[in-house]
Amino acid sequence: MLDKKVKVKAIRELGADNYLLTVNTPEQARLVRPGQFVMLKCVEDLAENPLLRRPFTIFDIHRSSRSGKPAGLDLLIKDVGVGTRKLVQTRPGQLLDCLGPQGHGFQVAAEMRNRVQLAYLVAGGVGIAPLFLLAQSLLTHGIRPVLFYGGASAADLVLRENFERLGIECVYTTEDGSFGERALVTQPLAQYIRSYRGKNIRMYGCGPWGMMKAVHLLSIENDIQCEVSLEARMGCSLGACLGCVVQTRDSRGEEQYLRVCQDGPVMNSRLINWNTVPL
Ligand SMILES: Cc1cc2nc3c(=O)[nH]c(=O)nc-3n(C[C@H](O)[C@H](O)[C@H](O)COP(=O)(O)OP(=O)(O)OC[C@H]3O[C@@H](n4cnc5c(N)ncnc54)[C@H](O)[C@@H]3O)c2cc1C
Ligand code: FES
Repeated sequence: MLDKKVKVKAIRELGADNYLLTVNTPEQARLVRPGQFVMLKCVEDLAENPLLRRPFTIFDIHRSSRSGKPAGLDLLIKDVGVGTRKLVQTRPGQLLDCLGPQGHGFQVAAEMRNRVQLAYLVAGGVGIAPLFLLAQSLLTHGIRPVLFYGGASAADLVLRENFERLGIECVYTTEDGSFGERALVTQPLAQYIRSYRGKNIRMYGCGPWGMMKAVHLLSIENDIQCEVSLEARMGCSLGACLGCVVQTRDSRGEEQYLRVCQDGPVMNSRLINWNTVPL
């Protein structure tokens, strides 16, 4: 994990209060694994509010157009509050403090290749952020990803063309029916699971708590391993403040609290007590 001052390269508006922020930081870009995040100070002046950095998943590695080598990070930012509002107003050339990459990412190991052929990636809204690097990594390991991407309306399904360019199957849902099927994202997911006869399958989810809980329940009903990428309010991101804990059960079924910043953000969905929503 590195602590760097990174230069804003570009910021692109995607609609529905979403932005794609690209920062130059080759050293950090070289270290990234799918599912990891960075802690970013949202303003250039260290004394300006908000003082605490905010966590953002690494959507993609930005590569140099000349050499193809990792040059920076692409971050999907949804403007929801004080910090993200200031962050999306930054301009190219500004410097921001960036700590990372950090956190426990998805398990995509070479040994999965023989056991897993198909992966269902399930995203709700900005929960799409960790799934792009994951999709690329699965393809590299010979595993076929299928994306299920849901939002309230068409405008929420940002960056879907990035997944389409990978040539993978994408299934879209919206609550208002403005794009894809008018449904919750777990509805086509359940149909796909029912119609697939093989056993060598994995599921990955990121989005609102209720959506991830529904994905988890489908994984249990169908005996499929499932990883989810969790969100929690973060203070230190270093495991010290315990501000980001989530209630889980250990292998003996006993209650324990894990830190999303250090033990996650990606966890096996079976560990989590889905009846206790993190603060
Ligand atoms: C591991 C991790 C990865 C994340 N990745 C992304 C990402 O790729 N893109 C993205 O846009 N956001 C991501 N988030 C959420 C992002 O960190 C928050 O939206 C951000 O911290 C809000 O800061 P703010 O100052 O704008 O909001 P504040 O003014 O502090 O709060 C505004 C509102 O946002 C809610 N909020 C604040 N922090 C969080 C949080 N961590 N999770 C859920 N709700 C929150 C508050 O409850 C409040 O309602 C991630 C969070 C975590 C923990
Ligand atoms: S944010 Fe402080 S322990 Fe996780």
